[in-house]
Amino acid sequence: MHIYALALEKGGVGKTCLAVNFAAAFSRLNLRVLLIDLDAQAHASQWLGCDAEQLRPEDSIIGVINGRKVTECIRPTEEGVALIPAHAAMASLPIQLASSPNSGIFSLQDALDQIRQPAPHYDIVVLDLAPARGPVLATALAAATRCIAPVQSENLVLRALRALIDSVAQARRINPHLRGVSIIRNRYAPRSAGDMIYDHTLRQFYSEQLMRTIIPIRASLRDSAGLQQSVFRYTGSDAGEVRNLFLDLVEELISLDGGA
Ligand SMILES: Nc1ncnc2c1ncn2[C@@H]1O[C@H](COP(=O)(O)OP(=O)(O)OP(=O)(O)O)[C@@H](O)[C@H]1O
Ligand SMILES: [Mg+2]
Repeated sequence: MHIYALALEKGGVGKTCLAVNFAAAFSRLNLRVLLIDLDAQAHASQWLGCDAEQLRPEDSIIGVINGRKVTECIRPTEEGVALIPAHAAMASLPIQLASSPNSGIFSLQDALDQIRQPAPHYDIVVLDLAPARGPVLATALAAATRCIAPVQSENLVLRALRALIDSVAQARRINPHLRGVSIIRNRYAPRSAGDMIYDHTLRQFYSEQLMRTIIPIRASLRDSAGLQQSVFRYTGSDAGEVRNLFLDLVEELISLDGGA
């Protein structure tokens, strides 16, 4: 079971967009996919058609941390992706984790063990994270097998990337299954001389972690969210191109990690 954590402290870089469309792409390849929305904003849950306002806090990961069975919190979506949705009450998750044994660091890993044994219920688990460093990120990295960071060629984004790489290095001390960070250039359009410097930095210092496939700015990735569809269901004019890019990204991940 591969566990991909979509993370970066900088907001709006495309974590949720990639999480949803990755999950849908894996599902199109007939892999069994679970997305866990770890962001109280609940954008991934909404994108997958789940109305977070109709939920109770215990339907989210809060329920699992308080002892509910993981399978009781999982619901199906139109994308064929299983979902543990988020709830606004997750805003207090950092405090709840901090007061749990070992600062709750192993709570997600323990929860995922429930769906890993005796045989994995899913091939792929996708974790969508909030733009923050802190206990929720630490808990996710303690469970993940790979961290995925969407980036643009901007100073603040590259600073956030350095911070994330530090967090992953720390997490690897307690999680030997965490293989590192893969960087995806999303909404990628370096234009100014300044952008080109950061683009060069990215290619020079992170070449081993950079994924080959680049996701440009595309209307279908902006507009499909409002219709609660992944690009695999959305029928806008550039959706076909974007679908192929996500399938390329998924193939890259499969060649790094294997399929299931
Ligand atoms: N390649 C793209 N082309 C066009 N729009 C995009 C692209 N990637 C993301 N978007 C849009 O940009 C906005 C921000 O993306 P998203 O919500 O995925 O970022 P995020 O990193 O999850 O943000 P946050 O840090 O707040 O959780 C969304 O409206 C999304 O649909
Ligand atoms: Mg998000």
